[in-house]
Amino acid sequence: MTTPELELLTLKANDIIREVGLFIRGEIGRVGAERIEEKALHSLVSYVDRTAEEKLVAQLGRLLPGSVFLTEEETVENTRGDLMWIIDPLDGTTNFLHQLPCFAISVGLQAHGRLVLGIVYEVNRQELFYAWEGGGAFLDGKPIRVSRAESLKDSLLATGFPYYDFEGMNGYLKALSVFMRESRGIRRLGSAAVDLAYVACGRFDAFFEYSLHPWDVAAGALIVREAGGRVSDFSGGENYLYGGEILAANPGVYEQVLGVISEAF
Ligand code: IPD
Ligand code: CA
Ligand code: CA
Repeated sequence: MTTPELELLTLKANDIIREVGLFIRGEIGRVGAERIEEKALHSLVSYVDRTAEEKLVAQLGRLLPGSVFLTEEETVENTRGDLMWIIDPLDGTTNFLHQLPCFAISVGLQAHGRLVLGIVYEVNRQELFYAWEGGGAFLDGKPIRVSRAESLKDSLLATGFPYYDFEGMNGYLKALSVFMRESRGIRRLGSAAVDLAYVACGRFDAFFEYSLHPWDVAAGALIVREAGGRVSDFSGGENYLYGGEILAANPGVYEQVLGVISEAF
């Protein structure tokens, strides 16, 4: 796909995602306890995640004939293909169900194994973050860039606490203890997609988490890259989409944050 074609595709997908966001918004506070399932340890889901996903799959499939899907809720057969949408219909389900702000739709597109499009829609503030390969990154139509902070001391960090995979706990706590002393502070918002979008627009200077899935990070990672940020796994390598660990930061603090993480883990 050419860059103008990708731009057009992104703008059309944006409309679909805003519309599905309206559905999610309308369900805030309406999901009774009997409609919530614990699908894995501490991992909640309801009809809202599944319905949102079905809507996204139906419309994005029509938008890009021949495309396949990798989705969290598996409402469609997950297959591999040259054009693959990677979808988390509701990132931050626990926040959503507890009626806390900060949850999002996350939609990425891989073409021949490369991330080429990413959209993160934060439903509460109705902020739409998006990027396409080579086109830059945007928040509601305005270009965004990562922050200019150049040291940990001037950085606000984001992370996700481990909640089902405690294998990396020791390393994680070691890294936290350094960041607590040396940074401006650490936040745990509860949506990896939003954490990444906030790195892209400079609200956070860096984000790291382990045990994430491709649908948590695909869209956000591309948005960070297109906003001038760096994205890697915990060893500084490229395996952040399927490798289950991600570090995203502005180029000014990336090496410093990577140094702490690679030593701790
Ligand atoms: C979760 C959120 C959370 C992160 C978890 C994810 P979900 O996604 O992104 O911030 O810490 O690791 O699984 O389950 O709400 O889609
Ligand atoms: Ca998620
Ligand atoms: Ca989800």
